[in-house]
Amino acid sequence: MTQNPPFRTIEWVGDIDGFVRLIDQTLLPTTVQYRDCRTVEEVWEAIRSLRVRGAPAIGVAAAMGVVVGMQKNVPLGGFASRLQEVCDYLRTSRPTAVNLFWALERMQAHLQPHPEGVKPERLRKLLLEESLRIETEDRAMCRAIGLAGKDLIGEGQGVLTHCNAGGLATADYGTALAVMFAAAESGKRFHVFADETRPLLQGARLTAWELHERGIDVTLICDNMAAQVMKEGRVQLVIVGADRIAANGDTANKIGTYGVALLARAHGIPFYVAAPSSTFDLSLSSGDQIPIENRDGREITHAFGRQTAPEGVKVYNPAFDVTPAELIAGIITEKGIIRPVTNESIRSKWGESGA
Ligand code: MRU
Repeated sequence: MTQNPPFRTIEWVGDIDGFVRLIDQTLLPTTVQYRDCRTVEEVWEAIRSLRVRGAPAIGVAAAMGVVVGMQKNVPLGGFASRLQEVCDYLRTSRPTAVNLFWALERMQAHLQPHPEGVKPERLRKLLLEESLRIETEDRAMCRAIGLAGKDLIGEGQGVLTHCNAGGLATADYGTALAVMFAAAESGKRFHVFADETRPLLQGARLTAWELHERGIDVTLICDNMAAQVMKEGRVQLVIVGADRIAANGDTANKIGTYGVALLARAHGIPFYVAAPSSTFDLSLSSGDQIPIENRDGREITHAFGRQTAPEGVKVYNPAFDVTPAELIAGIITEKGIIRPVTNESIRSKWGESGA
């Protein structure tokens, strides 16, 4: 297996007047093309249209989006209001992944309080530094998650994952896939089943591509095959990522994750979530309070350039679901595994101050 990903998910190019460069994930796996975002509107569009996606990567993109949003000759007097405006705008790009809100809060908090009379140039530099710190920290958290979880994978086992929680979904290396990369790096041999993940096929287009490119043994299945594959005894472990984890451990992740967790429970297979501290939202007592994104029905009826349903048919397209904590064997974090998943174990992992 190769050590480093064959792509760069997102990066800042240049100095404070630079721009955001991201791999356009809507074109994968057939085209590897980078997209440069030089305005906050372009960053917003990239997040909304899933050119950059996956909770931690969205957080990094939003933080860098703030920097480009503050570039256009913002006078000192209008700096604070423009910063608020840019952050509020980016907050409307997608609702479920808490990393977006977490990163924007961090960017704002970084300048508060700032001494009176500091030049906008200096403030913009501070914002750029904070966005780069968020990116660097995310890389480190992914590596730590990999190390924390790698021993869960036994020699010769089958591991199933849903959606994409890999390097493409983070600054680098991933969360659920980090566990697999770390296990492979330690010499373990195992087999991954990747759910294709309807409707936008993040599993087929992104996870299968990433694992295949990195030399990890992966088999793609349609979502509705998971039960049969489990029944045949081919899966010993499930690991998925997360978009937001409430204080009691209820976990929002890509639509279909809840079904996979139920199937895992029915077949006696441990179901793990891998996520960094930035994905925990301890202000929510349970998963019922997590906002679930509803996306355009055309993603189901007209995906990838072909109409596959009658014109005008009603469609419901929630992009995420919530898996109750009781179905989760453990949450793999950068600070070790939270197990069992309860209010108390989550609080004690992140301390009273919260994640
Ligand atoms: O709609 P997406 O592609 O942004 O959904 C992504 C997921 O659900 C991932 O599993 C989650 O963000 C974890 S990424 C480490």
